Amino acid sequence: MDIDAINQTIENEISGIDSSDKLEELRVRYLGRKGVLAELTGSIPQLPKEERGAFGQKVNLLKNKINTLLNEKQKSFASIDVGAPTAGQVDITMPGIAQDLGRLHPLTQLIDEICSIFTGMGFSVVEGPEIESEENNFTGLNIPLEHPSRDAFDTFYLKTKKKLLLRSHTSPVQIRAMKSRKPPLAIVVPGRVYRPDAVDASHSFMFHQIEGFMVDKNIKFSDLKGILEVFAKSVFGEDIKMRFRPHFFPFTEPSAEVDISCIICKGKGCSVCGRKGWLEILGSGMIHPNVFKHVGYDPKIYTGFAFGMGVERIAMLKYGINDIRLFAESDLRFLKQF
Ligand code: PHE
Repeated sequence: MDIDAINQTIENEISGIDSSDKLEELRVRYLGRKGVLAELTGSIPQLPKEERGAFGQKVNLLKNKINTLLNEKQKSFASIDVGAPTAGQVDITMPGIAQDLGRLHPLTQLIDEICSIFTGMGFSVVEGPEIESEENNFTGLNIPLEHPSRDAFDTFYLKTKKKLLLRSHTSPVQIRAMKSRKPPLAIVVPGRVYRPDAVDASHSFMFHQIEGFMVDKNIKFSDLKGILEVFAKSVFGEDIKMRFRPHFFPFTEPSAEVDISCIICKGKGCSVCGRKGWLEILGSGMIHPNVFKHVGYDPKIYTGFAFGMGVERIAMLKYGINDIRLFAESDLRFLKQF
């Protein structure tokens, strides 16, 4: 075996090796007990005396060189062996994929928060169907035939023989609850409602409302005020002011819209409140005697209040959200903030 020839080819030979097994074979062939280098060392005594020293040195150098090359090659395998999986294998060197924790939608969170404010004051949570009759959505609520909100443009009607519609507010659940129960009643109703509005930053064809009503002997407007004040202060903070502004709803008399002092400018006037200093948050009033008559309650014995609020609107005011469409877009960058 020619020592100079080995010196020249060994590098190429090792670099061409593609597995630890073949590398080990080569190591045995060269450095093993009966390997090439052992043979070379063994041949030293047969050499003329004056050549032995130089030859021995050469063998040693070659041994060191092969050792170094083998080690380097082995190291490169060490990283490749785990780092490059073949098809179907798991690459354990890849960073893990963190599982995102799920969470409740901001509207669900707010609905839960608002409902628990009312259950804390003795209200029960009741739900009703999104497909309703004209009677529950309109007639029972003292909304006469010629009232504009009955117009097909303001309500989604279904193409059914019996005139059915997608409820345009949660108030029909007042009728359902009063027909199936006797006073005293204290109920809140969260749910979806539908109106054929063109979608823009503040309108949607579907949104959420929370209805509330209380019926008993001797329920007064001051009870409504007290309950709503507790509600508004828990949602928007203790330092807000509240006012009742006369309004009209067919199913309440008297009726009022409730405003809170603008949470952005604290009542000074800004772009959010339209320079008014006040933000409308809900509609309310004392339940109309005709509504009681419709469900068979005697309006001479019972009185009650009702209110209804848009959940998206409350959420937009509370969190400073400027586009109602964000609630329906499933954009994690938005949703993750809640
Ligand atoms: N139903 C009314 C609406 O959708 C809100 C309301 C409910 C007003 C109860 C008064 C009493 O606008």
